[in-house]
Amino acid sequence: MISKLFINRTGPLHGRVTVHGAKNAVLPIMAACLLTEERSIVENVPRVSDVLLMADILRGLGVAVDLSGDVLTITPGQYAGTVAPYELVSRMRGSICVLGPLLAKQRTAQVSIPGGCVIGARPIDLHLKGLQRLGATIATEHGYVTATAPQGLRGAQIHLAGMFGSSVLGTGNVMMAATLAHGTTMIEHAACEPEVSDLANCLIAMGARIDGHGSPLIRIEGVPQLHGVRYRIIPDRIEAGTLMIATAMSHGDVWIDGVRIEHLAAVTDKLREANVRVEELDSSVQVSAGSFTQAADVVTLPFPGFPTDLQAQMMALMTISRGVSVLTEKVYPDRFMHVAELNRMGAAITREGSTAIIKGVGRLSGAPVAATDLRASAALILAGLAADNQTEVSGLDHLDRGYENLEGQLTQLGADIRRVREPDETEK
Ligand code: EPZ
Repeated sequence: MISKLFINRTGPLHGRVTVHGAKNAVLPIMAACLLTEERSIVENVPRVSDVLLMADILRGLGVAVDLSGDVLTITPGQYAGTVAPYELVSRMRGSICVLGPLLAKQRTAQVSIPGGCVIGARPIDLHLKGLQRLGATIATEHGYVTATAPQGLRGAQIHLAGMFGSSVLGTGNVMMAATLAHGTTMIEHAACEPEVSDLANCLIAMGARIDGHGSPLIRIEGVPQLHGVRYRIIPDRIEAGTLMIATAMSHGDVWIDGVRIEHLAAVTDKLREANVRVEELDSSVQVSAGSFTQAADVVTLPFPGFPTDLQAQMMALMTISRGVSVLTEKVYPDRFMHVAELNRMGAAITREGSTAIIKGVGRLSGAPVAATDLRASAALILAGLAADNQTEVSGLDHLDRGYENLEGQLTQLGADIRRVREPDETEK
C-alpha cells in the first residue's frame, strides 16, 4: 500500500494546536541512555518513524525499549551489542549518534557509515575527528566505521569547526563520549542548537558534569559512570515553525501552544518582516496574517540563525508573497529538491547554486507532487493549503519520519486534508 495526501484549499486556518516533543532532541537522548546500565524514562516523545527506528537500533544492541503513548522506557542492563547495522543506519543518518556513547561505554563501536541523502553528503569527519582526539582508534572499512579505545577515553581540547559551521550531532557524539572520559574535555565551536542543550541537560541529570552548553564552548569533566534518568524532551521548534508558516500561508489566526519562545526568535523575526503578526505569551505564540504577506530574504544558519529545517517551508510562503525573495542555504547547499515540485504548482523559483530567487505569484495551482525529504514534504503540504484545486502529495514516508500527524493538526485548524491508502503497482 502507498499513502497519499489529498489537500484542498479551505481558507484561513484558525484555532489552537499543541506541538509535540522534538524529534532532533529525542534521537541523541535515546543514544545517551547507552551510557548507563540503569533504566531511563523519556517523556514527551513524538511518535515518528525515526524514533521507532532508533528504538530498533537500541534493541539490536540488546537494550530493552518500550514506547507507550509518548513515554519511552529504555533498559540497557549489561547489554553486549556494539554494532549498529547498515540496514538500519542507512535508513536514518541520525543513528550515527550511537557511536560516541557506545564507544564510551563498551570501549568499542561499529556503526555503518551514513550514506548521503537528497539534502547533502552528510559527512561524519567532525564526529571522527572529535572521537580520535579523545583517544579512540578509528578505522573505516566495508562501509563501517569502527572506533576502539581499550584503555578508555581521555579528555582533550577539541575544535569542531567544519566548512559549514559546527555539527549538531557531531557535538552530541563527542559530548556523550567525553562524559565517561578520564579528565576534562573542551569542545570549541560546539553547536548551539536547543537540541544540543537538551542532550546536555539530560546527561547532567544522569550525573554528567557539563557546562557551557548552548554556547560554542562546552566543558565536560569526565565521571566514572552515569545513572538512569527520567527526562522530558523539549518541544519541537521545527514543528512549531511549520505550523506558524502554515498559518501565514492561509492568512489565518492560530494559537500554537507548548512552545519555547526563545527557540523561535529567528522564525518570528522573519515572519514579522513578511508582514505576519506574531504575539508571544508564556509558552504560546499567536500567529495571524492579514490579506497579504511580503517577500523577505532568508539565509539559513546554525542556531540562533534561521534554521535550515524550515527553509523549504519558508520558501513555500515566499512563493505567494508580494515581491521577490532571495533565499540562501548556508548549511546544506543542495537542499533544494522541493524547488521543482513547488514550480510544478505554479511557483516562480529559480536556483543559482545555494541560492534560490522566489518571485511571488498570486496563486499556486494544485498538482500531484512527490515529497523527496522530510521538510520538503511539509513544504508541499503547506503549498497545497494555498493552491487552487486539489494537491496530491506522495512520498509520505519522508513526512512520517519527523511529524506526528501534521495533517491531523492542520485538519484540527480547519484544513481539508485526507490521507488515502492505495494499493501500489505490485498489488494492483
Ligand atoms: C542535525 O543533523 C539534524 N538532524 C538535521 O535535521 C539538521 O538539518 C542539522 O542538524 C542542521 O541543523 C538531527 O538532529 C537528527 P550537522 P546533523 O552535522 O547533526 C556538515 C531534519 O530535517 N558536516 O549539524 O547531521 C554537514 O554536511 C534533519 O530534522 C560536516 O561537514 O547536521 C552540513 O553541511 C535534516 N562534517 C553541516 O555540517 C561532519 O562531520 C551541518 O550538519 C558533520 C556535518
